[in-house]
Amino acid sequence: MTLGSNLRAFDGDRFRREGHAMVDWIAAHWASLADRPVRSTVTSGWVRAQLPTAAPEMPESLEAVMADLDRVIVPGLTHWQHPSFFAYFPANASGPSILGELLSAGLGVQGMLWSTSPACTELETHVLDWLVDLLGLPPCLRSTEGGGPGHGGGVIQDTASSGVLCALVAARERATDFASDTQGVRQADRAMVAYASLDAHSSVEKAARIAGVGNAWVRKVPTDAEGAMDAEALARLMQADADAGHRPFFVAATVGTTACGAVDPVTRIAELARTHDAWLHVDAAWAGAAALCPEFRAPIVAGAEHADSWGFNPHKWMLVNFDCHAFWVRDRRPLVRALSVLPEYLRNAATESGQVIDYRDWQVPLGRRFRALKLWMTLRMLGAQALRTHIRDHVAWAGEFADLVQADPRFELLMKPNLSLVCLALREGDAATTTLLDRVNATGRVFLTHARVKGRMAIRLAVGGTLTRREHVLAAWELLRSLA
Ligand SMILES: Cc1ncc(COP(=O)(O)O)c(C=O)c1O
Repeated sequence: MTLGSNLRAFDGDRFRREGHAMVDWIAAHWASLADRPVRSTVTSGWVRAQLPTAAPEMPESLEAVMADLDRVIVPGLTHWQHPSFFAYFPANASGPSILGELLSAGLGVQGMLWSTSPACTELETHVLDWLVDLLGLPPCLRSTEGGGPGHGGGVIQDTASSGVLCALVAARERATDFASDTQGVRQADRAMVAYASLDAHSSVEKAARIAGVGNAWVRKVPTDAEGAMDAEALARLMQADADAGHRPFFVAATVGTTACGAVDPVTRIAELARTHDAWLHVDAAWAGAAALCPEFRAPIVAGAEHADSWGFNPHKWMLVNFDCHAFWVRDRRPLVRALSVLPEYLRNAATESGQVIDYRDWQVPLGRRFRALKLWMTLRMLGAQALRTHIRDHVAWAGEFADLVQADPRFELLMKPNLSLVCLALREGDAATTTLLDRVNATGRVFLTHARVKGRMAIRLAVGGTLTRREHVLAAWELLRSLA
């Protein structure tokens, strides 16, 4: 059989039949998750040892592939969609978003320029404007303000790490009058300094490294007792750097830290950033989704009107499957100027008109997938009310869990719960807490991870899974309590 006829053999009918079989498999897999261990128990190298050393020359059937899916791949999975996955921050998924992902692959569009698929760009701009309103973010982040064209707007990045990298590069370029165009960025005589709290996500340091700022020039600002940035310490650090002739150019504030969900005082941080003409980026990767609910919104969006960029991950807690980071800027011009390089082969009339958004200028790669489809389908097919219920339930169950922890004299809460994140420890000390975490995870019935909170070893319970119900959260407590 020639290659051509093999490809033709995968015609519309076969695609339909095998596509249905795959969707059936996924649905059955979800239904089976509660009975599986949350974490994979394979040893390193086991998965590869099951696979042939060379790629097949001749076609294999879907049945053969699916048999290996069950035999080799599933045992090597940690089930992020398991209802008892409480580790890290969950990466939730939902039927509509997965269908949107499938559609994106099926359409096979590459939306680097408006002209390479206008709908890919315009749907993205549009759903991100919807989200500004749904989260109660300031209108200055919308692509249109008061009905007319504005300078703000949103883009979907793969992850929050890419968002902070783009923000940091735009900040560096803005602070150096875009000198890299003509003379490169010289730092020998004047260091460019970035700031983030001790508890900020490691992606800030990574961005500084990639951008050539150097993570040595990221000042780690101390935190207060609740894990939030100490803004007065930031004020002192920025002033000391300015006095020393350095250039404070970038501040990352976190709304919902990874360790314990702390919220930095964004409004005060914004004043300081303004004083030094520094870019303010707000990282609300996990907590941002909770702004869908008016009762949780105020601390999450506080100060957002002063942020140069603001981002959160629908892929963490808004029922959109990984990857989907929503990232907005108040003024798109420095970002686009910092990231735009236009080779001849990409020139086109729409770009030259200045009337369209070319998202290649808002991100690191040139090419881009049609990610907006999964966000659009999730918003349309679930509706904002269901998304709010999803968040509210998780916060309520985390609260119940925290009450149970507090009522047991052997345990303590290291912090009051922030939204759906609970940090607890055994009073006996760090070693006992670590042993308990290992024992609980070894059962395979739940997956929890740890963090350092207030100098102590903490067990974190992050409620956020699509399939998680109250009984799974209560069962996690029962397991912790019984093994303590
Ligand atoms: C506060 C915060 N920021 C950024 C990130 C990085 O997210 P991503 O994987 O989207 O880069 C995380 C990951 O959990 C996070 O908790």
